[in-house]
Amino acid sequence: MTSLSRSEALSLFAISAAGVAIISNAFQGDGNPVVASLAFSGIAFSATYAMIRWLGNTFMKAGLKGTDMSKLRKVEIPETMGAVCAVVYLLCIIMFIPFPFYKDIVAATSGGGNKDYIQEVHHVETGRFLHRFPHNKLAAYLSAILSLQSIVILGIGDDLFDIRWRHKVLIPAFASVPMLIVYFVDFGVTQVVVPTPLQQYLGDLFNLGWLYYAYMAAFAIFCPNSINILAGINGIEVSQSIVIALLILANDVLYLPPFTSYPHPATDAHLFSIYLLLPFLGVSCALLMHNWYPAKVFVGDTYCYFAGMVFAVDGILGHFSKTLWLLFLPQVFNFVYSAPQLFHIVPCPRHRLPHFNARTGLMEPSTATFRKPPARPVQAVLKLLGELRLLQVKTDNKGEVVECSNMTLINLWLVWFGPMREDRLCMGLMAFQFACGVAGLFVRHRLALLVFTQDNL
Ligand code: UD1
Ligand code: MG
Repeated sequence: MTSLSRSEALSLFAISAAGVAIISNAFQGDGNPVVASLAFSGIAFSATYAMIRWLGNTFMKAGLKGTDMSKLRKVEIPETMGAVCAVVYLLCIIMFIPFPFYKDIVAATSGGGNKDYIQEVHHVETGRFLHRFPHNKLAAYLSAILSLQSIVILGIGDDLFDIRWRHKVLIPAFASVPMLIVYFVDFGVTQVVVPTPLQQYLGDLFNLGWLYYAYMAAFAIFCPNSINILAGINGIEVSQSIVIALLILANDVLYLPPFTSYPHPATDAHLFSIYLLLPFLGVSCALLMHNWYPAKVFVGDTYCYFAGMVFAVDGILGHFSKTLWLLFLPQVFNFVYSAPQLFHIVPCPRHRLPHFNARTGLMEPSTATFRKPPARPVQAVLKLLGELRLLQVKTDNKGEVVECSNMTLINLWLVWFGPMREDRLCMGLMAFQFACGVAGLFVRHRLALLVFTQDNL
């Protein structure tokens, strides 16, 4: 497991070689940055795949390991492999910087590489043409890198020291400051379009002012944490991120030709999103191949925070954060459903992942036990949820609630569909994630016209 097989090594080498060839070609001709980004993603995939193999033992020696609780044999496997993904990803998007700006660099400097373009010296000295360079876009890109780097530091810190929930929950808000500043200077739109039925009261646009920044910071807190709490079975953290990323990409493609006529005002923002997501998919696929049931490595909190922040940065700087909520519906549900445990109204054990039944080999809902009976209103709500089949509730002979299933979407799935093997559970939840996302996008682009005057497509 620590080295690559011959066929793996050959395939990874072929992918990387093709990537390098495409990238060097992109710099010579009129290369398309999207193609270069695809090539970078291929290289990112190969590098992550190989490094996860090579670094497993090193991570274990450094204490970055965990026990898979849902297996018969309780062996330790490397944890925090998301750190490998994050580092490869960051290096990739840093190396990618010149590509989307190549044409601007050529035009802004004295010909630099463009042989037919001659610029007079005094223009260069006074910098008159330098304004053609899209500094604002570069700033957005750099701020995305800065925000992602900050979140990776938090993630690794959490995996190393198990930072307490109440301490770490706000850190993504600090990590989002660089991109919020760029948003403020570059875009600065804090108005939201008012749905048609409300327009007679509020006007066409409603200015949220600083609240809009608070909303975006809250979004940056939500995305990383929501992925981290929809976790605990092999493959789920990575596969939910891949499903979300694919759906965002599908939405991005709708803003590119031939789907829209170029130039469309939103094209550049969606290209930005594509550049951030393609390498993310590359590193995530390499990780999923090692984290899928039966897992050989764990992703760690680093991956959950990193993935969530990629989406937050992407949605905010790509100006589609409201659409992104629609792709996060299962995560939103899981968060709301978890709230009683997160806020300690119902006891919250350290781990809420489903219970592995060693006799059947299947996953069952795990439970939280009440040490003393909860208050009357809490009992009433829990019993109601039990009646509605939204929770498994156990009462004693006096009718007092003594136990309930842990409040996560993963456990609820098991309450609904009965015990099942870990990989089937993950696949079911991913099908659900995909279906919700597709429905969300359909609502966004079709049904939104019922309450808004136009779709921005
Ligand atoms: C979050 C969840 C916790 C869940 C945990 C699992 C909340 C508030 N917290 O905590 O309920 O149990 O994630 O990731 O909802 N593990 C497995 N199999 C897997 C993945 C993880 O057994 O497929 C175990 C391993 O022992 C691993 C540990 O979970 O070492 C990682 O837990 P960690 O990410 O530190 O938990 P939290 O993020 O704090
Ligand atoms: Mg975690």
